[in-house]
Amino acid sequence: MPDHNNDHDTDHFATRLSHLGRPGTRTHGFVNPPLHRGSTVLMPSTAARREGWKHRYDQYLTYGLQGNETHHALENLLANIEGGTRCQIVSSGLAANCIALLAYLRHGEHCLIPDSVYGPVRSFCDRELADRMGVEVSYYRPTLTAAELAALIRPNTKVLYLESPGSHTFEVQDVPALAATARAHGIKVLMDNTWGLHFFQPFAHGVDVSIQALTKYAGGHADVLLGSLVTNAEDDWHTVRQTALSYGQYASPDDCWLTLRGLRTLNVRLRHQMESGLALARWFAARPEVLRVLHPALPEAPGHALWKRDFSGACSLFGVVFRPEFDTARLDAMIEALRLFGIGASWGGFESLALPTYGSVTRSVAPLDLGGHAVRFHIGLEDTADLIADLEQAFPALHTAPMTSA
Ligand SMILES: Cc1ncc(COP(=O)(O)O)c(C=O)c1O
Repeated sequence: MPDHNNDHDTDHFATRLSHLGRPGTRTHGFVNPPLHRGSTVLMPSTAARREGWKHRYDQYLTYGLQGNETHHALENLLANIEGGTRCQIVSSGLAANCIALLAYLRHGEHCLIPDSVYGPVRSFCDRELADRMGVEVSYYRPTLTAAELAALIRPNTKVLYLESPGSHTFEVQDVPALAATARAHGIKVLMDNTWGLHFFQPFAHGVDVSIQALTKYAGGHADVLLGSLVTNAEDDWHTVRQTALSYGQYASPDDCWLTLRGLRTLNVRLRHQMESGLALARWFAARPEVLRVLHPALPEAPGHALWKRDFSGACSLFGVVFRPEFDTARLDAMIEALRLFGIGASWGGFESLALPTYGSVTRSVAPLDLGGHAVRFHIGLEDTADLIADLEQAFPALHTAPMTSA
């Protein structure tokens, strides 16, 4: 069995991050697991070679595609911090999203996807699941109640997909209530838990498969792309593992090794970024140019009550909605005036980022109405006062930049 079931189960998060996913010796040997690269695994006999496939659900060395000790070390640590039992590493966060959906859906079946879902997942659902595979895809209002969800369930509904808070717009979902309703109908609950990493324990809230874009805080250094699927029941593990193998999913051992290294410092990074993110969120909320801040940990933010009930902390990714008089030209000018915030996709690294939400959000259930244009901010590991000073010098561009004529 993976080493997450060992004597570390009672240790605190920070201790588990330091001690799990290691070779296992405390007295002699390197602290870190080896970085193995490889395809062929030599077997002791032809009989052993024939038996190898039987072990495809285990951490067993048969062929590079099925993972090696470097993958296993990361899998064991991740399964533990997500509160599950087994973990499959895949090539990117998006690959993890797609493998989860493919694992549970067939032609003619139905899935429910939140309208706030990460954009490329929407694209996968529309192009691949609906158009090519003939899966029925319905989008739902992410903050719907359990009763409203029950009304959307069809006889062929097989998957409820969750992402909380939602991408770009940060709607917090009532995961326990929605998951309980789905489970009562025999529907699998898949959740993208990237924002909630560690702060939200998916299996304690009724989720069957938890998806992580490890590219974000787990890797933490903007230098890897990686995804994971964690399960808590053996049948889910078989379903997910078999699908990942069928699609030839693989992740470079170098990226696994870097992510394991990133995880060793996750606790201190997350804590610092949470505090700094909250300080920045409060700074934004006090500015006259800002209509509202979409940060679930702020008491006045939408979804705060659910966040407070279900999460033990918050990461440093949030949205800022500007008053309607600040059009996209003025917001572009402000973003471009920033010196410490980069303009770029992704989040969870050590560097701060500012990304326009306008023009990049699709909604199909109801038009998006935030009351103004929004910018997504990711707060990195820079000094908080320096980040505030940077914003202070960039905000005047909101008032001086020419407006668009449109
Ligand atoms: C919520 C969420 N899920 C999944 C992904 C996909 O991760 P990756 O970039 O590793 O494919 C992202 C990427 O931004 C994301 O924000």
